[in-house]
Amino acid sequence: MDIKRVGIVGAGTMGNGIAHVFARARSGYSVVLCDVEQRFLDRGLATITKNLEREVAKGKITAEEKASALKRIEPVTERARLANCDFIVEAATEKFEIKAEIFRDLDRLARPEVVLASNTSSISITKLGALTRRPEKVIGMHFFNPVPVMKLVEVIRGLATAPETFSETRNLALKLEKTPVEVNDAPGFVSNRVLMPLLNEAMYAVMEGVATPEAVDEVFKLGMAHPMGPLTLADFIGLDVCLDIMRVMQDGLGDPKYRPCPLLIKMVDAGWLGRKSGRGFYKY
Ligand code: CAA
Repeated sequence: MDIKRVGIVGAGTMGNGIAHVFARARSGYSVVLCDVEQRFLDRGLATITKNLEREVAKGKITAEEKASALKRIEPVTERARLANCDFIVEAATEKFEIKAEIFRDLDRLARPEVVLASNTSSISITKLGALTRRPEKVIGMHFFNPVPVMKLVEVIRGLATAPETFSETRNLALKLEKTPVEVNDAPGFVSNRVLMPLLNEAMYAVMEGVATPEAVDEVFKLGMAHPMGPLTLADFIGLDVCLDIMRVMQDGLGDPKYRPCPLLIKMVDAGWLGRKSGRGFYKY
């Protein structure tokens, strides 16, 4: 299908980053960006404007390209406005019940041939697909934060995902100048199956007094050339998101090695969610 108009559900960190890359792609997609409240859309658009401005300052795009990218984004609060989209990416909160309601609704709204992709970082694509009348058209399209910078898109096939859905999604990722990597559906896929236990283990090291967060991060930055240490990265991702992903892996895989670190649970209970709340392993 010739994709011209892309719907995005959720204007948070991931949703606004995804809207950004579609709107500024050479193919010039029209983007319908949907969230439940106007203030979330306003905040998302402010972030897109700031990040496009950063790209202008670095000479990656021109001021005209920034202006036309912004013009291509239509912010909406009614989900029905996604009805005329040719491809939809869901990037809502990482909770199964929330995504389930959205997928049922999108299935009613969108034309039957439209692919419904989820940017979920761990929830089963097979399960989301089974809620719709088009499981063969449901797929995972997992972007990485900051979306305008990170090259990877993990493309996840659910059990029922059709080969055409996979190739359409893969081609779309290439049009965004991203590198798609094919992964089968399993809790945490590949990215978080491997990343989250690392972050969780770094938290155990802090909890047990092996080292301070600063020391753990220095070890990974200087010893392993990671751009951010694991605790800085956990704060950047959001500690609530890290906990949700650990729980999906603990439930889905059943191995005690996926037990979330008690310090992580305590910090989330305290509302210390990392960078977005002003406090996590560090203060912002
Ligand atoms: N939008 C556009 N451009 C951005 C940007 C944004 N939001 N954030 C940074 N940039 C650009 C900068 O302008 C800069 O561009 P140049 O290379 O042209 O100079 C470049 O990115 C690097 O940024 P900075 O110089 O400001 O800072 P940095 O060198 O410290 O890099 C970083 C910042 C890219 C975030 C880097 O620290 C990094 O790669 N960190 C690791 C991020 C990571 O692991 N992300 C994955 C998280 S996991 C996830 O998202 C999925 C999940 O399911 C949990």
